[in-house]
Amino acid sequence: MPEHGDDRGRVARGYGRLLGYTRRFWPVLAAAIIGMLIEAFAAGAFTWMMQPLIDGTFVERDPNVLRWMPFAVVGLFLLRGIGVFLAGYGMAYVGRRVVETLRGETFAHLLRLPVGYYAGENSARLVARLTFNAELVADASAESLKVIITDTLLVVAMVVVMLMQSVRMTLTLAFLMPMVAVVVWFAGRRFRNISQRMLGTVSEATRVAGEALAGLDAVKVYGGEQAAEERYRILSARRRRLHLKGSAAKSLSTTLVQLSAAIALAILIYIAGREAAEGTMTAGAFTSMMVAMAAMLPSLKRITSVQDTMQKGLTAAESLFDILDTAPEPDDGGAAPLAICGRIEYRQVSLRYDGANHEALADIDLLAEPGTITAIVGRSGSGKTSLIRLLPRLLEPGQGQVLLDGRPLADYGLAQLRQQIAWVSQSVVLFDDTVAANIAFGALADASPQAIEAAARAANALEFIQALPDGFQTRVGEVGSLLSGGQRQRLAIARAILKDAPILILDEATSALDTESERQIQDALAHVMRNRTTFVIAHRLSTIEHADQVLVMDAGRIVERGRHDQLLAADGLYAGLYRMQFSRGT
Ligand SMILES: Nc1ncnc2c1ncn2[C@@H]1O[C@H](COP(=O)(O)OP(=O)(O)OP(=O)(O)O)[C@@H](O)[C@H]1O
Ligand SMILES: [Mg+2]
Repeated sequence: MPEHGDDRGRVARGYGRLLGYTRRFWPVLAAAIIGMLIEAFAAGAFTWMMQPLIDGTFVERDPNVLRWMPFAVVGLFLLRGIGVFLAGYGMAYVGRRVVETLRGETFAHLLRLPVGYYAGENSARLVARLTFNAELVADASAESLKVIITDTLLVVAMVVVMLMQSVRMTLTLAFLMPMVAVVVWFAGRRFRNISQRMLGTVSEATRVAGEALAGLDAVKVYGGEQAAEERYRILSARRRRLHLKGSAAKSLSTTLVQLSAAIALAILIYIAGREAAEGTMTAGAFTSMMVAMAAMLPSLKRITSVQDTMQKGLTAAESLFDILDTAPEPDDGGAAPLAICGRIEYRQVSLRYDGANHEALADIDLLAEPGTITAIVGRSGSGKTSLIRLLPRLLEPGQGQVLLDGRPLADYGLAQLRQQIAWVSQSVVLFDDTVAANIAFGALADASPQAIEAAARAANALEFIQALPDGFQTRVGEVGSLLSGGQRQRLAIARAILKDAPILILDEATSALDTESERQIQDALAHVMRNRTTFVIAHRLSTIEHADQVLVMDAGRIVERGRHDQLLAADGLYAGLYRMQFSRGT
């Protein structure tokens, strides 16, 4: 099947890529492999030693053997211990380093992906992917590699021991073992088939009973009881028959497997007996062979079952590779001048989120001159936040263009563009760090304490910060859980004031504040807004009466625009929103 071939190719590529990560730690990997070689050698040597041990002590009663044997046994196990440690620690080291590298790379890449990537993927799931999948990858890359190499070496060592003891018996065994394996597989297959069919009847019987009981009214009114009863009875009987077939198959297969193993053993003993009669096989050699055979079986089993772990790890690795292979945000601008005035223009911009069936923004045209305030109002979900998220290129428009100083945004480098924008977002996120570090966030990290304090004062935050146990050095706790909504908002405003950028965006920046604090911040913001291009989104219309232009949005479109009093006079949507506010008394 071609599909299967494709799948194989993909798996091989995935594994190759994973091995690429382990290759970076090749000296440790080499040490681990040496450890595995030692381990296999020691195991093989011990198994071989069974022959002189048994023949020397029990058969020939040679006192010499008694003298060296204890040392040899302890020595071999000491050697084996060294090998086991090297292999175990080395592979664990490589595995952990692979996880660490892969996790680090994936996280770094996630930070550079377009925000749109997260729209379809919930962030908790991404974090889980990052945490758990990397663990599975460690199993696949290190554990299964260890199993494959160690167990293969062990099997080889055992085969060598067997060949050393008797070539004829080894060849016989090589011939018999596949036959026993085929019998085991064959016997198991019939049982697996029956189990599969058994599952089918369970779900069908459940469905029949469920349907009849759920639709009991109809069953009764239309007289369907007998038909339902009959169907259920037939399914139960089929299930019983399958069950019994399964039991029969199971006991039959156990018998079959044991019988074939017994036949194989009988053949082996027969040949060993003939060799013993000829004088080429001793009791010790026979024991040594049997021990080698027994030691081989678990290894063979592990080698065949390691596929499962590998498959899981590969699937996990692929989900991480998927992230790594997703193109980062396009950032090939940089041709534009560094100093900007802040004139912003939207031309026929529309936007549709992935998977959404309607446009979040449609036919947006707007012009914001430097030094002016543009207020955006509209019902929840009308597209206000979406509109301004286009500015720092957190989103890319589907159609149309956004221009800064007459140039498309893509002409600017991403970092350069974002430097020009201070943003107080609708939901303030604080990081588990000090208050000062949360104000001087990211690229602002080297701001002076004086500047931070001045920004906090302007944001009306100084008072509450100074009341905190360690002032500016207080840690705000995970995601700022120690602060109230209004306090968090004031920190975010301080952050924006400190950034002192030519474009200022306030998305419901004061929604969590009481009227008194809001008025104080309004004053500070009015001061900050001077000489900047400002966008203000607000539900409270009182905060936008002084805007140079008001855009009224509805269902992704700008439906009204003008100054506050013009819009009131026009008596449209804005006037309606305004009146509603006052009737609610806010
Ligand atoms: N990440 C997203 N993925 C898909 N759809 C989104 C996403 N963000 C917003 N939307 C949809 O886009 C539309 C506009 O949302 P937007 O956040 O811009 O509204 P808003 O005017 O800011 O609302 P609010 O006043 O409640 O903040 C809504 O229909 C919303 O469901
Ligand atoms: Mg919003």
